[in-house]
Amino acid sequence: MRILKNTSLKPYNTFRIDCSARTLIRVKSIKECGLLFGGGLKFSKPLLIIGGGSNLLFSGDFNGTILKPEFTGIAVEELDGNDVIVSAGAGVNWDGFVEWCVNGGISGVENLSGIPGSTGAAPVQNIGAYGVEAGDVIEKVVAVNTTDGSKRVFRNEECGFAYRASIFKGPEKGNYLIARVFFRLSMKNKPNLDYGSLREEVMRTGKPTLKNIRETILRFRQSKLPDPSVIGNAGSFFKNPLVSKMQAEKLSIKYPGLPVYNDLSGRSKIAAGWLIEHCGWKGKRVGDAGVHEKQALVLVNYGYASGKEIFELSEEIRLSVLKEFRIGLEREVELI
Ligand code: EPU
Repeated sequence: MRILKNTSLKPYNTFRIDCSARTLIRVKSIKECGLLFGGGLKFSKPLLIIGGGSNLLFSGDFNGTILKPEFTGIAVEELDGNDVIVSAGAGVNWDGFVEWCVNGGISGVENLSGIPGSTGAAPVQNIGAYGVEAGDVIEKVVAVNTTDGSKRVFRNEECGFAYRASIFKGPEKGNYLIARVFFRLSMKNKPNLDYGSLREEVMRTGKPTLKNIRETILRFRQSKLPDPSVIGNAGSFFKNPLVSKMQAEKLSIKYPGLPVYNDLSGRSKIAAGWLIEHCGWKGKRVGDAGVHEKQALVLVNYGYASGKEIFELSEEIRLSVLKEFRIGLEREVELI
């Protein structure tokens, strides 16, 4: 365990907001968590658990304790026909995990290539891209109760997975620290290429092998999304809004070209990036806060923007989308 006092959070959030935390604790094992939460060590509250910090916006200094689980290790736990159960520690870099699977001929997470962040954060916000969500392949989650240090296993159906949501972000927020995630994957390649032009692009460049799918997705992401190691950002700032089928039909008539997708919930999902672009925000910059020039759903920090400035820009965007389309955008990024 490493305890840091009054430390800068700049290296701990991909928006690269320069603020500080009163205490930051890097925990290396479940045993250390047990000690911490079981009362063996006093820490100042509030408590915030972070992963790669790739979905957070700090609006100012954090006057409590930030906990960063750094549990490592990837392991094959079980083979059951073509199914394979693989586990990864919460601190494992997500894309490192995906690459490990692809290199090992294990299918299921290749569409989630290139997503910044840690494996422990994947279930929290049910990360998703190119037609796949983490919740589709998570078997179970091993977590530590933050009030008494006890261990609990959540089966997939207990995690409440929904679009960019789970109980860990909802009713159980802050109550559990995710220690290890178990995935049900496959030794058989089952390509999922139905998103946009993914199939076309994969077939144009070769066969639908795991490696080719991964490389195609990495290229897609590089062409649209800013690399957080170069320019501060937290991926999509807002969620794609869900509206009734009727509202979607009316909007499509009024705004031809508006991307609308059918959602499993029976409602329609609208592309928030399109709405924001059509309000004129794409590529706009206010000081060091801006809207990415290739993907309007992504807000960026050109260098020295404060969390407050990014937040204020996001609120202006929200207001203009509300005025033009009568749709209230919901943040995907967590505001601290
Ligand atoms: N679009 C525009 N203008 C823009 C951005 C998008 O017109 O500025 C249009 C695109 O042309 C396309 C549609 O909107 O027709 C959807 O765009 P895209 O495929 O880029 O995906 P998205 O809905 O904007 C979602 C996820 C991303 C994920 C991609 C690919 C959310 C909030 N975002 O974005 O996830 O990578 O799909 O699957 O669901 C993230 O969560 O941080 C993230 C980056």
